[in-house]
Amino acid sequence: MQYYSIQKISTWERFYRANFINCLSGFKSATLIGTAGKNKQPNLAIFSNLVHIGADTALIGFINRPREAAPHTLANIEFSGVYTMNHIQPEFIQAAHQTSAKYPVNESEFDLDGVSIEWKANCMAPFVGESRIQYSMELVEIIPIKYNGSFFIIGKVTDVFIDENILDKDGFLHIDKAGSICTLGIDGYYSTNLLARFAYAKPGNPIEKIN
Ligand SMILES: Cc1cc2nc3c(=O)[nH]c(=O)nc-3n(C[C@H](O)[C@H](O)[C@H](O)COP(=O)(O)O)c2cc1C
Repeated sequence: MQYYSIQKISTWERFYRANFINCLSGFKSATLIGTAGKNKQPNLAIFSNLVHIGADTALIGFINRPREAAPHTLANIEFSGVYTMNHIQPEFIQAAHQTSAKYPVNESEFDLDGVSIEWKANCMAPFVGESRIQYSMELVEIIPIKYNGSFFIIGKVTDVFIDENILDKDGFLHIDKAGSICTLGIDGYYSTNLLARFAYAKPGNPIEKIN
């Protein structure tokens, strides 16, 4: 195996190094976060550093880069306290990727070809109309990460919209059947296939496949 020390890695060209490091933590779910600011100005941006925090209360968190680098989603969530999460499917990966560009605040990424804006009742944030898995979130806490100036944004799930046929009898969501993609690094997009599901693991029990 080839060995790279962090001393060596830190001498590499900035973008080469970023690609290398960004791939290390592996495949990520990717989501389009929809928000609205003053005068209902919509904003849409792709985020892949998402994490499940708890099921009861249903909490999900994501990492927002430093404010100078990624200001709009963060500001809108601070402003309204609500946001939407929209899974990405192959039909609109190009638009999804393009939302990472630094558009001015008064230009909506929802105007990109492939994604359309959908307002639902009782939600101040817009959804991606094409997304086959959408849910809305209410802000719980924003934790600044002092070490590098980024933020950990924690919210609770409020409303969920899915195709009924991806919901299994035990509550498992077959998001691969919805076509939701995952990402690697900052520009690699992948489709997924289920390899196996296993019964709840207990010491001493035989390993049992389900489905
Ligand atoms: C595949 C992919 C994943 C990304 N994941 C994140 C992320 O988890 N956190 C983040 O702050 N930015 C992430 N970005 C960058 C943001 O999409 C980008 O900074 C965007 O302009 C933020 O927009 P905003 O200022 O409208 O919020 C990602 C970009 C790509 C292409």
